[in-house]
Amino acid sequence: MSQYIIDDTKKITVRTIGQMKPAGEKIAMLTAYDYTMARLVDAAGVDILLVGDSAANTMAGYSTTLPITLEEMMVYARGVVRGTRRALVVFDMPFGSYQAGAEQAVGSAVRVLKETQCDAVKMEGGQEHLAAVRRLVECGIPVMGHLGLQPQHVHAYGGFGLRATDDEEAARIEEDARLLEEAGCFAIVLEKIPAALAQKITTARAIPVIGIGAGGGTDGQVLVLQDMLGLSGDFHPKFLRTYADLGTQITNATNRYVADVKSGDYPSEAESY
Ligand code: KIV
Repeated sequence: MSQYIIDDTKKITVRTIGQMKPAGEKIAMLTAYDYTMARLVDAAGVDILLVGDSAANTMAGYSTTLPITLEEMMVYARGVVRGTRRALVVFDMPFGSYQAGAEQAVGSAVRVLKETQCDAVKMEGGQEHLAAVRRLVECGIPVMGHLGLQPQHVHAYGGFGLRATDDEEAARIEEDARLLEEAGCFAIVLEKIPAALAQKITTARAIPVIGIGAGGGTDGQVLVLQDMLGLSGDFHPKFLRTYADLGTQITNATNRYVADVKSGDYPSEAESY
C-alpha cells in the first residue's frame, strides 16, 4: 500500500494566505490547542489555526502567557496538526524560546517544525527581533509577526490595555510592521490597537495583516477559540463576539449526567451489555 494518502482537501499554505489579500478575501484565523477542537474548526473552514501561547491561559490556567514552555506548547501543537487537514497551522513561540537572539530562535523553530509538523511560527515583537526573523526565513521557516499588544510584555506594560494610544507608539508599530515585512514575514497580527491605525498599516503593507481588537479594516481576524465559544467565564473585552455559550451547555450537561448517575437512571438496560 502506498504511504501517500490521496486527499482532495487542498491544504492552505503561506502562499495561499499571501494570495488572499490581493484577491480581497478575508482571512479567518482561530486558536486551537488540541486534536478534537482542531478537527472541528478545521472542517468548518477556518484558514489559519494558531497554536497560541494563550494555551498558558486557556489550557494550563496561568494568568499570563509567560510560564508556558516550548515543550508544553509542542504537545498541544502535535494534537492540532493531527486534527488538521486544510488550515495553515502556525506555532506561537513562547516566552523564552527566542528572546536570546537569532540562534536561539532558529534552534527553537527547527525543533517545532521537526517535532510538531506545524507549517509556520509566530513571534511577538518588531525591530528587536529582525535578525531572528531573517534567519528563520533564510532557513525556510515562514514567520508571522505580532505587534500592538504583546502579551509577553505584560509586566513591562503593567496590564493588557489598549496599545498605541500615543503618536510615538503608533509610529513605532507602523515602522515595525514595515520592517517585519521587509525581513520576510508572510503576515502580521495586530493586537488591541485603534482601528484607524490598523487600517493604515493594512493599506501600507503588501502582506496580510490580521487583527484582534484592531477593528474591521484588516485583512483578517483572529480570536481565541475558548473566548468565541463562550468558554472563558467573565472575560468579555469590547472586541470579542461570542458565537456560542458552550460554558453553560457543558455545565448543564454535566449537571444532568451527575443527577442521572446519582439517581441510578444512568446507565439503563439499553445502555448495558
Ligand atoms: O496566543 C494567542 O492566542 C495569540 C492571539 C491572540 C493572536 O497570540
